[in-house]
Amino acid sequence: MRTSELTTPALLVDAQLLENNIRTMSDALPGTRLRPHVKAHKCTELAKRQAAAGHSGFTCATVREMEGMVRAGLGHDLLLANEVADASRLGVLAREGARITVAVDSDATIDAVARAGVAEVLIDVNVGLPRCGCPPEEAGRLADRARAAGLSVRGVMGYEGHIVGLEDRSARGAMLEDSMGQLVSAAGKVGGEVISAGGTGTYDLNSWATEIQAGSYALMDTAYGKLGLPFAQSLSVLSTVISVSAGWTVADSGLKALGMDHGDPSVEGAKVWFCSDEHLTFAPNSPLLVGDRVRVLPAHVDPTVAYHDSLYVVDGDEVVERWDVDLRGW
Ligand SMILES: Cc1ncc(COP(=O)(O)O)c(C=O)c1O
Repeated sequence: MRTSELTTPALLVDAQLLENNIRTMSDALPGTRLRPHVKAHKCTELAKRQAAAGHSGFTCATVREMEGMVRAGLGHDLLLANEVADASRLGVLAREGARITVAVDSDATIDAVARAGVAEVLIDVNVGLPRCGCPPEEAGRLADRARAAGLSVRGVMGYEGHIVGLEDRSARGAMLEDSMGQLVSAAGKVGGEVISAGGTGTYDLNSWATEIQAGSYALMDTAYGKLGLPFAQSLSVLSTVISVSAGWTVADSGLKALGMDHGDPSVEGAKVWFCSDEHLTFAPNSPLLVGDRVRVLPAHVDPTVAYHDSLYVVDGDEVVERWDVDLRGW
């Protein structure tokens, strides 16, 4: 099949660039040094390529991702790097034999995990991103509480999400040192082997973590593209030109096909004006005709992928495989 036969908008992933990205990362962080995050691609076929590159443990953001990974035979060591108020579906996975670890940051989330029959937790520490995670000084007490509830505490996690996207590498490094200092000191009070942290923007700077949770590196986006990382933009949204006016052109990928929270998407050889629900208005350097195809590069990979059912793996204009985006939903 050719890409010209696909219904648009359609998610394309360049087979060679994807393979290069996976290899570059596994060379830098082999085996369990990387715990790939599946939230960016939500695709078990892609996760299988990461497993084939040597990574046996994975990071998930939702219970649905955890379930899908277990069903796909990738449940050897799954971390839900997120809090849940009801862990009962994770208890089912643990009873089926999957190794399930869950982030906890409060008495309530510890109790939820213990009630569900999940055995292992990481104490989630806030290292500067105002999101989940306990204050560092609370981590030791929560670890004691988890152990008293019969849980095994594998260590800590602390996601530096306020740092991973900083364009200035030296600022990224300096802020990381401060964040990870807090995490390492919490780890000393918590005990256990694991210090889980990091993302694509800090994968080669974070030497404090025992494992890095990067996910975007496989597909990439234009926001991360500004950081000069050794990962190529393998993901694009194939779109069709549907209207041409004097001065601008419109393609059929709008904000229902593209994650926009990191800004407008890009089109090579064109200036993007704006996106609306089903439309991308742009000014190409050379004229396009209705029916022409353009590859739109998303600014944020995770929400973009979450809008689509399938990833079409391509070699140039040839579609070599279709992968379900099978970890969507909740
Ligand atoms: C908890 C957690 N860990 C790690 C990551 C790293 O992902 P990325 O590779 O996109 O930087 C994320 C991304 O949002 C995250 O939420």
